Amino acid sequence: PPGLGLRAVDLSDRAFWANPPEVKHAVLDLLRAEAPFAFFAEPEIPHLPVGPGYHAVTRYADVAAISSRPDLFSSAAGAVSIQDVPPELNEFFGSLISMDDPRHAKIRRIVAQAFTPRMMEGLVGSVQLVAEDVVARARRTAAEGDGTIDVVADLAAPIPLRVICDLMGVPEDDRAMVLQQSNVVLSGGDPELIEDEEYAVAAFLRAGELLAGLMTRMAVERRARPAEDLTTALVHAEVDGERLTDQEIASFFILLLVAGNETTRNAISQGVLALAEHPDQRDRWAADPGLTRTAVEEIVRWVSPVTWMRRTATRDVEVSGQAFPAGSKFLLFFAAANRDPAVFADPHRFDLARDPNPHVGFGSRGPHFCLGAHLARREIAVAFRTFADLLPDLEVTGPPSRLQSSFVNGLKRLPARLTG
Ligand code: HEM
Repeated sequence: PPGLGLRAVDLSDRAFWANPPEVKHAVLDLLRAEAPFAFFAEPEIPHLPVGPGYHAVTRYADVAAISSRPDLFSSAAGAVSIQDVPPELNEFFGSLISMDDPRHAKIRRIVAQAFTPRMMEGLVGSVQLVAEDVVARARRTAAEGDGTIDVVADLAAPIPLRVICDLMGVPEDDRAMVLQQSNVVLSGGDPELIEDEEYAVAAFLRAGELLAGLMTRMAVERRARPAEDLTTALVHAEVDGERLTDQEIASFFILLLVAGNETTRNAISQGVLALAEHPDQRDRWAADPGLTRTAVEEIVRWVSPVTWMRRTATRDVEVSGQAFPAGSKFLLFFAAANRDPAVFADPHRFDLARDPNPHVGFGSRGPHFCLGAHLARREIAVAFRTFADLLPDLEVTGPPSRLQSSFVNGLKRLPARLTG
């Protein structure tokens, strides 16, 4: 809004992130234009060390430059938290994304063997079946109740969770536990979901233990009896004669649950919201399935489900001519880079035909680029085509309720009804 003073803005305040997108983007626009490395104090979170503060990087070119130099900008102190990660959490939550080379390159080469585009292609049929089943259940929920559904719980959340469980080969009987515990991990510390922060850390650790326990059991079973799933591929994948340990497999599984679920869920739920807010675009896509490739990219750019990732300077560095001392923390605001007018014409226009669309929703150039981007694109494409075919009567009715998280751009609920 005009006259907004930058000094009044605190990106570390969770409540800020529950604002509507127009408000958040007005602030990010202002930062990008006037203070592209703005410095913020770290939020205080019990049990986590409060560090020196961080720079909010909001220009596309700077996000790209920092991502492309992992030797100068490390992920090891924690890529998904503002605070450095304490060792007890690192055991369960310290996979791939918070590693540097040479460890990162080695593990990434091992898991990439199991995560090939071909393996993902093989999944497309089953993603379709999952989406159709989820839609059928949502219709039953509406029919048995008052015609209303929650887009988040009934449509967006179950698709990625079931796809990952299918992919890993999680037994039917364990899926309720996986759903419950991954919700604990995924709650992102939202105070409404986890009111007591002391409890939150204990609940995180307990969820990590339960999920790791299941994965260790599955790894033992797959070594004895291989199956057609990612777990089997992971226990057998090798680089330089080295295999993943059970603990590495377990923490990778937890990373997949976190990285693959909430992100895709929020792309789908906020894609539904964006289409409801732009009926011309929705009608255009319904009439032209050929638009799907660019539409999926635009949804990811528009939503930017991961707001930022963190890097830490390994030595004294310079970015865009500005000097920063070793140890400086940088939050790479993908959400801001994705609306940078230097790269995207009319960046606040939702345009399903936008092409080229070099967004950084899945990360920028660099070794940490989203391993699941291929799968996520498929899931989003299949979800929206299935909604267009089977839920033409879907009508968003209520205001969304937003997650209070600076890290994940999330919806908790999005009320809708099926009128057919
Ligand atoms: C990494 C976004 C879906 C697995 C990342 C990163 C981003 C991201 C921003 C970090 C990139 C960087 O630091 O440069 C998204 C979005 C998704 C999505 C927006 C959905 C719309 C998925 C799915 C999976 C997945 C479905 C797996 C099933 C991973 C993994 C990493 C990662 C394993 C860590 C890679 C590494 O550090 O080497 N993702 N992701 N993601 N993502 Fe995704």
